[in-house]
Amino acid sequence: MPGWEVIDKKESNALQKLFKEGGVLFAHGFNKFRKKYHVREFEKLSARKFNMKFAQAVSSGTAAIKIALLSLGVKRGDEVITQAFNFIATIEAILDIGAKPIIVDVDKTLNMCPKSLKRSITKKTKAIIPVHMLGVPAKMGAIMKIAKDKKIKVIEDNCEAMGAKLGKKYLCAIGEIGVVSFDFSKSITCGEGGMIYTNNKKLFKFVREYHDHGHENNIKLPRGMDTRTIYGFNYRITEMQAVVGKVQLSKLDKIINLQKKRYKELNNVLKKKYELREIPKNSKITFDTFIFFIKNKNIRNKVIKLLNRKKFGTKNLPDAIKWHCSAFWDHALDSKEVKKSIPTKNLLNTAIAIPISLKRSIKEYRNLSNQISKIA
Ligand SMILES: Cc1ncc(COP(=O)(O)O)c(C=O)c1O
Repeated sequence: MPGWEVIDKKESNALQKLFKEGGVLFAHGFNKFRKKYHVREFEKLSARKFNMKFAQAVSSGTAAIKIALLSLGVKRGDEVITQAFNFIATIEAILDIGAKPIIVDVDKTLNMCPKSLKRSITKKTKAIIPVHMLGVPAKMGAIMKIAKDKKIKVIEDNCEAMGAKLGKKYLCAIGEIGVVSFDFSKSITCGEGGMIYTNNKKLFKFVREYHDHGHENNIKLPRGMDTRTIYGFNYRITEMQAVVGKVQLSKLDKIINLQKKRYKELNNVLKKKYELREIPKNSKITFDTFIFFIKNKNIRNKVIKLLNRKKFGTKNLPDAIKWHCSAFWDHALDSKEVKKSIPTKNLLNTAIAIPISLKRSIKEYRNLSNQISKIA
């Protein structure tokens, strides 16, 4: 959970500066009382960082998924495909607009299985949401090919892999539209918040307007006289979140590098003894979480016990599996989709996820890897 782990004077100085500059906390208007538009700056810097044409800041990753779905014209009764290893936010965003979530399996990447995706497409499928779980890209080459063949749009849920790449492209640049989250547990954080990225001007126009009650944000018009043609909702973020977000964004590469050093300690030793999570070819991961499989229950339990004793914990596998596998979501999904999630649940039950924390030293990870290796 590195974003909050690296909060220091830079974030607090940025906040104090905002108050000294006039303390306008709203993203729009109040031109005479402010020196800067921090939300707009955060969006520009963020788009530039990931080589995207457009970025729109919103109040959460969940809101970002919902607005992205609406921008693609997904509506009541449509089907939207996503995956069984996930977070409930994706399902909630689909349900919130009256669409139906369709669940597909994950493969050993622990991301969307292209074969399972292909089998699940129907005439009602209007969008596909691959989720880049825990720092690793989905097999976007295969997923995009299937989507293009069937003329279905793709939203990348990149809430858990900000900064990861496939080939030369950052995640969020591969589908039509992509989203990230800045909640408390993400690679970079401003408490709550999200960003929507796209290279499509029409989609950007929709998300900009929809997140702000449909206002068109005409620069030449005073705020109170702004025009609109659609209604939307309030999914704005504040200037306070944006000043923190800008500082955190400037730390992202450093965070990934520091995570990499810890991750490598585990990877180099444990790859000799255990089956590791598959990493798709040509990907640059964020080293957020180290995941490996142990089929033998006895050995797996010994490793989990060790991780808990050493206070590393096991992040969502198995700690919070019920939060991250749709086999447990009968409160939101119909029974057919819950049942379809069982193969993924069975696979996840053999996996262990070690969180990479910058509060633990590289040496601690080295010692840990040797201890886990001995259990095998
Ligand atoms: C994969 C995934 N999608 C969406 C979200 C939702 O993000 P937020 O908490 O900003 O609404 C999360 C947050 O945990 C997530 O992990």
